[in-house]
Amino acid sequence: MPRKRDIHFALLGFGKLGQGFYDVFQQKRDHILQQTGINLILDKVLVKHKKYTRPRRINPELFTFDHREIAADKKIIIVIDCMGGIEPTFTIIKDLIHAQKHIISANRALLATKMHQISDYANEHAIHFLTEPSFGGGLPVAAIVQRDLVANNIRELFGVVSGVSNYILDKMSANDIGMKEVLKSPDIQKMGESLAVIDYEGADSAMKVSILAATAFGIDINYLDIHSEGIAKVTRSDIRWARRFGYEIKLVAILRDHEHGFEIRVHPTLVAREHPITSVRGQYNACYIRTDLLGEYMIYGLGVGTRPTSSLILRDLVDVSNRIYHNTKRQRFYFNWNNKPVLPIEEIVTAYYLRFPCIDQPGVMGEITNAIGKHNINITSAHAEVGLVRGRTIGYVHIFIDNAMEKEVNKALNDIRKLKLIQGKIKFFRILEASHADIVE
Ligand SMILES: NC(=O)c1ccc[n+]([C@@H]2O[C@H](COP(=O)([O-])OP(=O)(O)OC[C@H]3O[C@@H](n4cnc5c(N)ncnc54)[C@H](OP(=O)(O)O)[C@@H]3O)[C@@H](O)[C@H]2O)c1
Repeated sequence: MPRKRDIHFALLGFGKLGQGFYDVFQQKRDHILQQTGINLILDKVLVKHKKYTRPRRINPELFTFDHREIAADKKIIIVIDCMGGIEPTFTIIKDLIHAQKHIISANRALLATKMHQISDYANEHAIHFLTEPSFGGGLPVAAIVQRDLVANNIRELFGVVSGVSNYILDKMSANDIGMKEVLKSPDIQKMGESLAVIDYEGADSAMKVSILAATAFGIDINYLDIHSEGIAKVTRSDIRWARRFGYEIKLVAILRDHEHGFEIRVHPTLVAREHPITSVRGQYNACYIRTDLLGEYMIYGLGVGTRPTSSLILRDLVDVSNRIYHNTKRQRFYFNWNNKPVLPIEEIVTAYYLRFPCIDQPGVMGEITNAIGKHNINITSAHAEVGLVRGRTIGYVHIFIDNAMEKEVNKALNDIRKLKLIQGKIKFFRILEASHADIVE
């Protein structure tokens, strides 16, 4: 066994993640000691409610209700944030950095809004600040981007980053059922984080993408400023039609580096069935990266749950412990903040699938394609089908568009909505393209 070193640490929060981490830590501490010589010792756990009954498996003397006790304890050198929320966590983290505690954060909301400020503050105090457990799964994307791909120019990075949402879309597709039926499944209730994390509106994925954007490209963006749509509006018929044309629908987060700005967005996306990310099943996540040296590279793993997250927390505990031991002052996660703008969604150029429910009569396809053509948009294919909706025959026109700017597509859609032939809600999906011509070399 390597030479034994004691490392004292504290935990902020003893909720779902805090308790899950504690259990994994108890299981793995001897293993880590054997492997690395690092003897991890948990000294304090910060919680809020004095009257809560805590699980019996933890020594009650570890609990504190005041973070200043952690700050004042000289033995504690690393603190793990499993507490969540922006305030008072932000203030607490700053106090702890000020007291020379190295920080490992799993706090998505905090990092998705204050990453730049905390990393600057950590740099000023020569403190290690590691953020990867905030992804909510076990994928070491940030470490791969920052260390393994350090010699690469990352041209684009996209992925399925919401395990619960992927599970729902996957079940809808595999069993040909609606979202409500999937939500009844007991498996959903058991998933690591609460039901609030089902990404109906895309906010959870947007938080992850903002953290990824900071790590991969140094983009300082609040998650609220990221264009994000969740899975709320994806229906069983969207999935059926997509499959009919050779696509799967996935909630995809996309980051691209263009000469004139970054493209960053999250939305349900049509992905060609042969693309590797369509094979991401159930609660799994994947991140697909394209670089100048490696070409295509994909990371795949569990995207939900306290055990995969704890795997990353323990890795970071060992990592920081080693760095302290070897007296490495340099930050592992040194962010290279970038001033290039983030493009508004209206200015992205991509491919689209549009579905128009309309009256079943000759000539409708011509009217729709004419209206699109007036905006100089290139239609790659158009199809007309007939379907039955509550006993009524409805025509469907399906249009595929390539290489169009979103604001032009929106203008065409506004014109088409005014046509009398339209019989319901027009469906609009962006399609994941293979690559982009002007991506920075
Ligand atoms: N759950 C997961 O699988 C998972 C995975 C990755 C990342 N995360 C992130 O981990 C964080 C926590 O998530 P969770 O699901 O574990 O939340 P949770 O179950 O609500 O637990 C929050 C914990 O923080 C404590 N806390 C909250 N406010 C506090 C305050 N002002 N002072 C002291 N303690 C306070 C709570 O104390 P009391 O016990 O006294 O209420 C509780 O123990 C979130 O940022 C989440 O994004 C969670």
